[in-house]
Amino acid sequence: MSFAFRPLTHAFAADSLAWRYDPPYDVYNTYVSAARVDEVITAHFSGESEFRQVELDGVPIAIVSFGADGRVNGGDYHEDALDIGLGVAPHMTGRGLGTGIVREVVGYAVHAFSPPMLRVTIAAFNLRAQRVWVKNGFQAASRFTFTGTGMKFIVYTWSVR
Ligand SMILES: CC(C)(COP(=O)(O)OP(=O)(O)OC[C@H]1O[C@@H](n2cnc3c(N)ncnc32)[C@H](O)[C@@H]1OP(=O)(O)O)[C@@H](O)C(=O)NCCC(=O)NCCS
Repeated sequence: MSFAFRPLTHAFAADSLAWRYDPPYDVYNTYVSAARVDEVITAHFSGESEFRQVELDGVPIAIVSFGADGRVNGGDYHEDALDIGLGVAPHMTGRGLGTGIVREVVGYAVHAFSPPMLRVTIAAFNLRAQRVWVKNGFQAASRFTFTGTGMKFIVYTWSVR
């Protein structure tokens, strides 16, 4: 298995807007009409954060963001850290690939951005996601409730040095 990180293409960003996860992960589904796809890609994927597609043997299987995109309103982000957001395409989830994908993401983030610390914000219910980051050394740093939806989140961090 060979992983690579490439600039996010418009085509794969558009694909991701149609990804459908089974419950309970359907909270990550986005619903965008065909007419608004370009507008949403411009607004979401062209901001200040850096987006990459993660390719496995040349095929894009995940999107990762580096920067404020990975934050959730209400979280404690006072420490100097690089926030990461990760979404694996639905058909590639639940196959035991997660820990290895996160290992690659961590290695890429450290190499590309030289941050003092990495940080990821994960819904408290999502034990599957927490497991793959914890297996890569991340530790729970703080918890909060997103006032908009009442959903609980946990901020995980990993010190690079
Ligand atoms: C979160 C994500 C990266 C995990 O990757 P994955 O390839 O689906 O995860 P895996 O199949 O490798 O499973 C990871 C671990 O969680 C465990 N797991 C699966 N379902 C679980 C559950 N309901 N409760 C607890 N652990 C669970 C698996 O057994 C596995 O543990 P192991 O490595 O010790 O065997 C991926 O599912 C994803 O991007 N999903 C998109 C939606 C999402 O959850 N977004 C939040 C991203 S931070």
